[in-house]
Amino acid sequence: MEKLVIQGGRQLNGTVKTSGSKNSALPLMAATLLCNSGEIKLHRIPDLKDIQTFSKLLVYLGAEVSYQANTLNISTSNIRCVQAPYELVKQMRASIYVLGPLLARFGHASVSLPGGCAFGPRPIDLHLMAMEKLGASVTIEKGFIEAKVKGNRLRGVQIDFPVTSVGATGNALMAAVFAEGITTINNAAVEPEIVTLCCFLNAMGANIRKIGTPSLEIEGVDNLNASEFTNIFDRIEALTLLTAGAITGGSITVTGADPAQLAAVLGKFEQTGCRIITDTGSITLESPDMLLRTDVIANPYPLFPTDMQAQWIALMTQAEGVSHVIDKIYHERFNHIPELNRLGAHIEIRDNEATIHGPRKLTGTKVMSTDLRASACLVLAGLVAQGVTEVLRIYHLDRGYERIEKKLNSLGAAIERVSYQEFV
Ligand code: EPU
Repeated sequence: MEKLVIQGGRQLNGTVKTSGSKNSALPLMAATLLCNSGEIKLHRIPDLKDIQTFSKLLVYLGAEVSYQANTLNISTSNIRCVQAPYELVKQMRASIYVLGPLLARFGHASVSLPGGCAFGPRPIDLHLMAMEKLGASVTIEKGFIEAKVKGNRLRGVQIDFPVTSVGATGNALMAAVFAEGITTINNAAVEPEIVTLCCFLNAMGANIRKIGTPSLEIEGVDNLNASEFTNIFDRIEALTLLTAGAITGGSITVTGADPAQLAAVLGKFEQTGCRIITDTGSITLESPDMLLRTDVIANPYPLFPTDMQAQWIALMTQAEGVSHVIDKIYHERFNHIPELNRLGAHIEIRDNEATIHGPRKLTGTKVMSTDLRASACLVLAGLVAQGVTEVLRIYHLDRGYERIEKKLNSLGAAIERVSYQEFV
């Protein structure tokens, strides 16, 4: 296994480029399953474990996939299997994204149930509800979701999601692309990753309207054509890098990023006393002498993202006063808190609300987390902790951050990636 060994206490300064978005790349890869001829080129795809896992899944289904210099070439002309196996789905819940496109193109899809998640319940009922609404029969058999089109083709329909879900919106969209007539998705997610998926589907010949609104309209088409498409930047990576600047009292510019997509969090940085300067494609954060306590509530886009909640808690350990962080999306996503407290933070947790007493001097030790953003939070804490922090089991981090230690080291951090063996 590998760990990051962080020598804390260095101020981070400089300019760093963002990578392509993981959470956008995965549905784009799934959407390639809708195209029955030609080769699709996807640019700005980050070199991450989750991308490799999704590639393996596509290859398992019969696709040809190659990856070089952040470009994926995918041909799905010869898909020979419509079953996503447990071994791959359990590694990555986003595998559920193959359900909609396989069902739409082949009339049948079989996807292993994803199983548990490190940060609490993550149901998939809305994905299944959408497939049923579109005219599929959906059953659970031997741990697999079995979805079959009733009749010849899915049918356009109105889908009203009771809760906004990124994944269920993406799956419903992809399933509806070939459905007869018009599908309306109400309470659709408006995350940039969903907007990007719509743009990619339209670039291939789909007819999706009202993109970026919570009421998407999809008029079914007969087929899609291979196309070339560039993925968006990773907004959570960009924000994590800015947080590294803020937590160490430095000044950081991230490039290749659209400030408009980060507005909710940039506004929160300003409340902490940070100065934010935006330009086309770049954001600069300048730290104040002392960070001010700033409360946040994680909610769907365009509000504060749950994927930044853990990193924000790390930041608030260094802010003057008592701050509160509530997660309204994942009520149990707080694995990082006991570990932050082991570093010397003073954080209490009640239901889905963390209360952070700052500022606290953190002291390095060994820490570990069980999910991606919690790992990022511990790396941020390690940057400011006195002495050496070892963040163990960084395979979580490698799922979602491309060369994070290299990027942070280029800004002045001292982080080493080291192999180690865990006691059993
Ligand atoms: N929900 C349901 N039923 C469903 C689906 C979702 O009740 O069938 C609920 C969830 O329990 C949650 C809420 O709806 O309370 C929103 O979940 P959503 O479906 O939007 O999450 P997701 O699509 O499974 C994506 C990201 C997550 C991110 C969430 C929320 C990908 C691959 N994953 O997950 O990213 O936290 O949206 O923004 O895009 C991460 O990158 O670390 C990560 C976990």
